[in-house]
Amino acid sequence: MLGDFTYSNPTRLYFGKNALDGLNTELANYGPNILLTYGGGSIKKSGLYDQIVNILKANGKNIIELPGVMSNPTVEKLYEGAKLAKDNNVDLILAVGGGSVCDYSKAVSVSAYYEGDAWDKYFLKMEEPECKIIPVGCVLTMVGTGSEMNGGSVITNHAQKLKIGHVFGDNVFPKFSILNPEYTFSVPQYQMVAGFFDIMSHIMEQYFSNDDDNTSDYIAEGLMRSLIASSKVAVKDHTNYEARSNIMWTATWALNTLIAKGKSTDWEVHMIGQSVGAYTNATHGMTLSAVSLAYYRTIMNYGIKKFARFAVNVWGVNPAGKDDAELAKEGLKHLEAWMKYIGVVMSLKELGVTEDMFEGIADGTFLLGGGYKQLTREEVINILKESM
Ligand code: NZQ
Ligand code: ZN
Repeated sequence: MLGDFTYSNPTRLYFGKNALDGLNTELANYGPNILLTYGGGSIKKSGLYDQIVNILKANGKNIIELPGVMSNPTVEKLYEGAKLAKDNNVDLILAVGGGSVCDYSKAVSVSAYYEGDAWDKYFLKMEEPECKIIPVGCVLTMVGTGSEMNGGSVITNHAQKLKIGHVFGDNVFPKFSILNPEYTFSVPQYQMVAGFFDIMSHIMEQYFSNDDDNTSDYIAEGLMRSLIASSKVAVKDHTNYEARSNIMWTATWALNTLIAKGKSTDWEVHMIGQSVGAYTNATHGMTLSAVSLAYYRTIMNYGIKKFARFAVNVWGVNPAGKDDAELAKEGLKHLEAWMKYIGVVMSLKELGVTEDMFEGIADGTFLLGGGYKQLTREEVINILKESM
């Protein structure tokens, strides 16, 4: 394990078919004013909205509603929520939805009592909150981001063509999250498989770095194998509880800081994907799938041993008689075949990217140094070209 680190994760998880019972337990810890944040209406269709409102009322809470949190939440929506939370003296923000609603609620939690411009402070300047932070709880309905147990919050500024994530400390993590795999059954196929790829990408971003023997990498391999197995079942059988529950749990552990311990981490696929998102407003997981193969082909030779290990330990490639370069290539072939099998987007064209966007997307891509190679701007452009 490289370096020194601290590990703590304050999010209490309630998992399983009766997980929502945990909301009754949790509500006792908070004051009366609850900001209920949710998206475009899937929770009304599924009946979850009614269940939650009933629980809130039975616990004597005042409900302040904040509907319409869009996928890839915007800075304008953030300002609206921050004002609403402050004006209503909110005691808890209850996020009911996917990563967008959960991310958004965290952003509101640190912005309500900040007097200045929250976009500028938290997303452009990456500063930490010094003001009062409103606690957040989450009822998760879509799996992928890990937002239910981390400090990540990604906000899009369309005017500036920037999509930026701030990974806040554990004072901003949800205080609790309710994970009932059955809530994810109604997620449309496109969103579902985008979420599956997002999980895979989170693990790969943390796996492809360093050359030491590290426990975090073995955990990552196990998570990837579980995801691959269960995703193949879930794409054919949406309501398979065994598969969906495995995937929900895998997603949480893929990005709750555990497998980043004792390592540096990459995150370059996410940097490119986010910039693509700022230009297209495309579904997050699909922005990652569209660029991943070109990215990994670009950096593979700088971390060839790990790519060979990926082939053998994750995809079950037989190493007999093969050198690292052959194995590495074979591993990426398996990754590609799995992506096609689950049905993710394989090219930027499908997301509406056009060549005239390349320069702008490259400008909005932060070049990080935690993986096997720090990209140059030119390499980013080449990856975009190859991903068309
Ligand atoms: O808005 P509603 O009507 O609820 O519909 C949503 C939305 O259209 C729908 N949905 C969610 N649960 C459903 C459902 N439809 C039917 N039944 C259900 N049970 O799914 C659509 C997508 O939801 P969204 O929350 O946008 O998806 P996701 O969970 O992938 O979140 C994406 C956002 O998270 C950020 C992304 O950048 C993006 O902005 N990320 C957050 C991270 C973090 N906190 O650490 C890390 C990730 O890498 C990612 O960047
Ligand atoms: Zn992601």
